[in-house]
Amino acid sequence: MNPGYDSLAHEYERAFPEPFRTPLERHAVGAFVDSVKESGVAGQVVDVGCGTGHVTTVLREAGLPVTGVDPSEAMVGIARESHPDVPFEVIGPDAGQWTALAEGHDLAGVLARFSLIHVPPERVPAVLESWAERMPEGGVVMLAFQAMDRGRAVVSFDHAVAPAWRWHPEVMADHLLRAGFREVWHSMSRPDDEHRFPECHLLAVRSLEPVPQDPVSCGCRVE
Ligand SMILES: C[S@@+](CC[C@H](N)C(=O)[O-])C[C@H]1O[C@@H](n2cnc3c(N)ncnc32)[C@H](O)[C@@H]1O
Repeated sequence: MNPGYDSLAHEYERAFPEPFRTPLERHAVGAFVDSVKESGVAGQVVDVGCGTGHVTTVLREAGLPVTGVDPSEAMVGIARESHPDVPFEVIGPDAGQWTALAEGHDLAGVLARFSLIHVPPERVPAVLESWAERMPEGGVVMLAFQAMDRGRAVVSFDHAVAPAWRWHPEVMADHLLRAGFREVWHSMSRPDDEHRFPECHLLAVRSLEPVPQDPVSCGCRVE
């Protein structure tokens, strides 16, 4: 049984005091910032599963109108205390709750770093659709997640804090496409002493083009 982020929020903050663990992470978020700015789409940016808020703050300092949202009250409490000038909201994982966020505003961008991994795979399509409903064409989504190289699969793994699944990038891209987002690029970093799995950063844009009839066989395995 995983203890959950509310129980381990302070340990998590101590374990990850910096926003980024690698240059790739930092540059991927920089590419997200530039892509949102260059899209010309006006609207709010949301950092989904913002945790202790340090990446939300990076986005804010880069000039994006960002709000951090997270289902864990303890994580949001730390975020608010550490970054009092940045807005944070406790918002749960259910897609429906998104309609209440920044009501009346379009979404220009969504960043979800290592947070969609905690959404049970069968609920991910509805979450992506709830973002697409609020996002005009050209809006930008970036996901970061534990991944795999082979086999089109979604596999649960023993995350130290909460139940989690790692995704093959093509499977995630298929779900994005079905929800109305077209992949622009993804990167894969290799496991090392501090990372057990390959990690994927995937950037996609909101597209109004019709989804191909059989876009992708979403014939992935869920384990
Ligand atoms: C590994 S931390 C990542 C924090 C932050 N995004 C970062 O990059 O530093 C995962 C965060 O996702 C949040 N989370 C857990 N379940 C979630 C869900 N179903 N939807 C969105 N976020 C969730 C957790 O509360 C936690 O703060």
